Amino acid sequence: MLRNHYHPLSIVFHWFIFILVVLALGVIELKGQFPKGSEPRELCKTIHGLFGQLIFFAMALRLLARWIYGVPEPLNLNRALNIFAKTMHWALYVLLLALPIMGFVFLQAGGKEVHFFGWVWPELITPNLAIKKIFKEAHEWLGNALYFLIGIHAASALWHHYILKDATLRRMLNKIKTSN
Ligand code: HEM
Ligand code: HEM
Repeated sequence: MLRNHYHPLSIVFHWFIFILVVLALGVIELKGQFPKGSEPRELCKTIHGLFGQLIFFAMALRLLARWIYGVPEPLNLNRALNIFAKTMHWALYVLLLALPIMGFVFLQAGGKEVHFFGWVWPELITPNLAIKKIFKEAHEWLGNALYFLIGIHAASALWHHYILKDATLRRMLNKIKTSN
């Protein structure tokens, strides 16, 4: 277990997944600019699904790196705040693994193909409109909830940096000495 710094792999995964999430959300917001059934609208959904799947695989690898190399102890000594931060982190992990699965399930349950670059996933879910509806609504609801979680998470990081002036953000940017 590393005592005061994140392993470089954890840092690379954190910011790589951040970029993927911004792209996945950005492209699905862009979708709304095009009329229903139009080619660019469908392309936005396909690209969104592709980024979503990349997020799933990157998250799985990131959790593996976390399990192997561990994470540093929190810098804040307030127990309640640490429990809150930990809950937020695990909520982000769970959402970023669950959302891609939900996207996959509602597309296949709706009888649609799921593409991964040039490859098409085999049919793992039998088409079922009731399942499609539940998973699509859950995907959209949780996808929107993710905006709030990311907002609170990023605001907390800035609060650590500018108000508490501790090394929480700097150590996620690999900007502290790795003395331990
Ligand atoms: C962590 C990854 C993902 C996030 C954060 C995410 C988030 C979202 C959000 C916020 C929306 C828009 C909801 C709304 O219109 O209010 C959405 C829609 C959608 N997502 Fe995802 N998603 C992810 C992964 C996936 C994956 C892997 C797939 C497909 C394999 C997928 C397929 C879709 C589709 C097709 C829509 C459009 C639904 C429609 O309006 O017809 N998503 N997603
Ligand atoms: C898509 C957006 C983001 C996601 C999904 C995300 C996810 C996470 C997760 C899961 C952790 C916990 C790491 C662990 O202990 O295993 C974490 C830590 C951290 N994140 Fe983010 N993050 C995002 C964006 C940001 C942004 C924009 C900032 C800065 C403004 C930020 C700053 C930090 C910091 C400083 C930590 C370390 C917290 C600590 O050591 O207690 N994150 N992030």
